[in-house]
Amino acid sequence: MKKLMAANWKMYKLKEEAKDTAQLLAQALTGALAADREVLVIPPFTALRAVRKAIEKAPGFSLGGQNFYPAAQGAYTGEIAPDMLLDAGCSYALAGHSERRHILGESDEFVGQKVSFGLSSGLAMILCVGETLDERQAGRLDEVVRRQMAAGLAGVADDVAPECLVIAYEPVWAIGTGLTAGPKEICGAHALVRAILTEKFGDKARRMRIQYGGSVKPENASEIMALDNVDGVLVGGASLSAESFSKIVTA
Ligand code: PGA
Repeated sequence: MKKLMAANWKMYKLKEEAKDTAQLLAQALTGALAADREVLVIPPFTALRAVRKAIEKAPGFSLGGQNFYPAAQGAYTGEIAPDMLLDAGCSYALAGHSERRHILGESDEFVGQKVSFGLSSGLAMILCVGETLDERQAGRLDEVVRRQMAAGLAGVADDVAPECLVIAYEPVWAIGTGLTAGPKEICGAHALVRAILTEKFGDKARRMRIQYGGSVKPENASEIMALDNVDGVLVGGASLSAESFSKIVTA
């Protein structure tokens, strides 16, 4: 099981800049990427083609989509289908990122539709879960993560390939704020995610990856990567520069 080191570029970078960053990343990591690590670049849709070209010869790199609509095709103006992401070279996609839950108003159930539809379309799916600060302070971490995972995984078949299902634990209060969850908080939440996966999928859950996300940076990456049940990171801000993201990948 390779550790999954993902760069979520959100709504940043025009295609030239995206291409340059991806090229620098591929250069920096060629020959330096540990055999047990995989690099996933998740650029905006308009830069998928340029980034695909920049990383196609770099060993251990994959491409991902930030979002899609859970239908094969149809009259969904402004949306994009899983097949379109696959066609653009993506092998992964995100679902349930807190920005989509909280800014775009996506429900737990809609996120679940994306996870099952994406998997059945042939994408590996990263389901993001995590509590807000109010929820954590009210002692509701367990309840919130259980609810998001129950709905998010409701349509996932028992025979899902374990390498195709990734959970990203991202406490909302740590995303883009500079606040990182401490080792105790990360270990506790990741153990909970592993337990929920095991309840649903049995032994196979050990081979499903759990990423941490929320203000990961070069200074804290190695400490986070060393924690139990941390099988990778999902990085926003610090992934925008090839220099800082390559330090995280090799931390
Ligand atoms: P951040 O974002 O690293 O900027 O906190 C993480 C994410 O949103 O996935």
